Amino acid sequence: MHIPIFLRDKIKKHILDISILLLSIILFNIFFPYSVYTIPNLKKGDIASRDIIAPITFDLLKNSTILKMERQLAYDNVPPVLIFDEKATQNTINELYKLSVFLDSMKMNLWKQDNKKRILSKRYPSLSKELIEILLSEKGEKVLSYAGGALNDILSKGVISDKISIPFGKDKKVVIEKNGKEHIVGVEEIFDLNEAMHFIKQDITSKYSSNSFLLKYSPELTQSIIKPNLSVDIAETSFRRENARNSVQKKVGVILKGEIIVRANEIVDESVEDKITSMYTYMSPKQNSFDRVIRFLVKNMIFFIIFFLYILFINSQFKKLNIRKRDKIFISSVFILNILVYGLFYQFAHIEYLLPVLLSSILISLLYSRTFALVSLLFNLSSLILYSGLRMQGLLALLISSIYAIYLIRERGSRKHFVSVIVRVGLVNGIFAFLIELYGETSFGQAIISSVYGFINGVISIILVTAFIQILERILGKVTRISLMDLLDLNHPLLIDLAEKTSGTFNHSMVVASLSEKAALAINADELMAKVGGYFHDIGKMEKPEYFIENQNRDFNPHQSLPPEISATIIKEHIIDGEKMANKHKIPSQVTAFIKSHHGTSTIEYFLEKSKSQDPLTDDNKYRYDGPLPKTNEETIVMLADSVEAGVRSLSNPDEQGMKRTIETIFEKKLRDGQFNESEMSVANILIIRDVFSNVLKGIYHPRVDYDNIGKK
Ligand SMILES: [Fe+2]
Ligand SMILES: [Fe+2]
Repeated sequence: MHIPIFLRDKIKKHILDISILLLSIILFNIFFPYSVYTIPNLKKGDIASRDIIAPITFDLLKNSTILKMERQLAYDNVPPVLIFDEKATQNTINELYKLSVFLDSMKMNLWKQDNKKRILSKRYPSLSKELIEILLSEKGEKVLSYAGGALNDILSKGVISDKISIPFGKDKKVVIEKNGKEHIVGVEEIFDLNEAMHFIKQDITSKYSSNSFLLKYSPELTQSIIKPNLSVDIAETSFRRENARNSVQKKVGVILKGEIIVRANEIVDESVEDKITSMYTYMSPKQNSFDRVIRFLVKNMIFFIIFFLYILFINSQFKKLNIRKRDKIFISSVFILNILVYGLFYQFAHIEYLLPVLLSSILISLLYSRTFALVSLLFNLSSLILYSGLRMQGLLALLISSIYAIYLIRERGSRKHFVSVIVRVGLVNGIFAFLIELYGETSFGQAIISSVYGFINGVISIILVTAFIQILERILGKVTRISLMDLLDLNHPLLIDLAEKTSGTFNHSMVVASLSEKAALAINADELMAKVGGYFHDIGKMEKPEYFIENQNRDFNPHQSLPPEISATIIKEHIIDGEKMANKHKIPSQVTAFIKSHHGTSTIEYFLEKSKSQDPLTDDNKYRYDGPLPKTNEETIVMLADSVEAGVRSLSNPDEQGMKRTIETIFEKKLRDGQFNESEMSVANILIIRDVFSNVLKGIYHPRVDYDNIGKK
């Protein structure tokens, strides 16, 4: 396939984003295969993992076994339909009448008796000779008359050739359709041919006597003439039976949207199973259509749009938060962790309160920014809702407590506040889970369980963050406020050493830290970072403390006996020594940057002047620090604070004017010397910092100046 070059370049550039997008879509669709409603298909005896609430209004259907039984019953209840054939009845009667007329004409005829018999038996071959003889005799009249009466009786009730052929239902009843009217009668009320003969014989016996000639001849005559006048209407019977079967109501009721089908942790009984089966039956035709494909596409399209907006946001933060490939990988891993946890465990009750959404929010807030964490939170939750139909109330609790955690962790995220942060985040998550569940009409007990889950999630998240934040910081090359707070603890071994070995440098560092913190606050830079930079910038001086003016007493200065170039080399060494110490103590690189850059490439003026006084051709560069120049706002602040503190301290009589002048001179010199050439600091901010320094230093030095003057008076 040919891909245009511009497209190929675009794909190459965004290969990471595309991979994350595809991976997320695949995972989502694996874990949350298409269904409008994600409700577990529970069977009788299962335990409900969570509250199941009807997502739609649907008909409650009969249990399939019961329905089958009811349908069979309805089918069986329909009696077979027999058609009463009026014509067949008439034909039989006519047949007898014709015989009687024929016999009359025979009797009146003067033919020989034998001829008459021959003609008769030719016409009625089924009649025996004896019967023919009787019919032609005096008794014939009686036989005929009895047969006529009997036939009338029998045919009017109905005669079927054979009762075995009747497809009976539940009971032995039949419907007889006669002259457009229907009668239901018991099968014993109609006759088959055998029964008809049996009936006649019994009738004659009871009416006459058992040796009457009627008993001998009437049944024979009837049998030879009678034709069944009832027949089974098979088509009508099965039509009626199918109708009855199909008209059994499948529906036994209605389940309304929002109705609770089963509570979490309850055993699913037959009625619950029926409700769930009914719901699936209601939904399945809707899922098998074209609709299904469209919904699938639309859902993934929505996710694509959300993802696209999120990536746009991340990329917009690219420069500000120094986001690199590994950051994107980290952020998407956290996102995918959420898909996995929810995808694997979403069958469990109240799992949404345990989702690591809280954990990811806290991590992103710590490692990047609050805004970033908020946007990620919204992205995270909206994708989960989209695919899983996550219960809204669980989501709401998670949203609120995550927002709280995002803010809290950047205010109070330090080991010192560890317990308080755990309790707060846990409580907020727990309380919200409880209130929202209660509002959502969940039972009190379930609300309590949710709140316990919420609390546990809060506690676990903070514990995990504290446990893994340092590893993450190292992998991602970030410093979070948790680490910065650790470094600001004066019990840090390097700071204890600094205080013990170099009380002068220690004091200097404290003042630089305080100046830097205030300056950073004033220009909206990271005040914690600036303060830590102030604390650690001069730790290298611990190697040879006596070579630095702030640690010298009046009696001894080791530089007096050294050539200025050597002195400068020793002074410069505090940068390299500091870096070594920092590495040994695993100080984050962002903090070590302060050690390396706080002098930039400025000159060590005192010794440069000293050298120039001896040799006017002195090379300035030998007295320059090796750099690098400060880059971040915080590094720039510490460089300025460092020079300003040293400068003001060297004033013999620091009054307000003197201090202001000194500060201005230092700022101007640094600027002219190009020390801010690589800094992100704006000129406007430099001016703000200058004022902050003047004000702070005035507070530190002024009182002492006044007391001195008073003392002199
Ligand atoms: Fe220094
Ligand atoms: Fe310093």
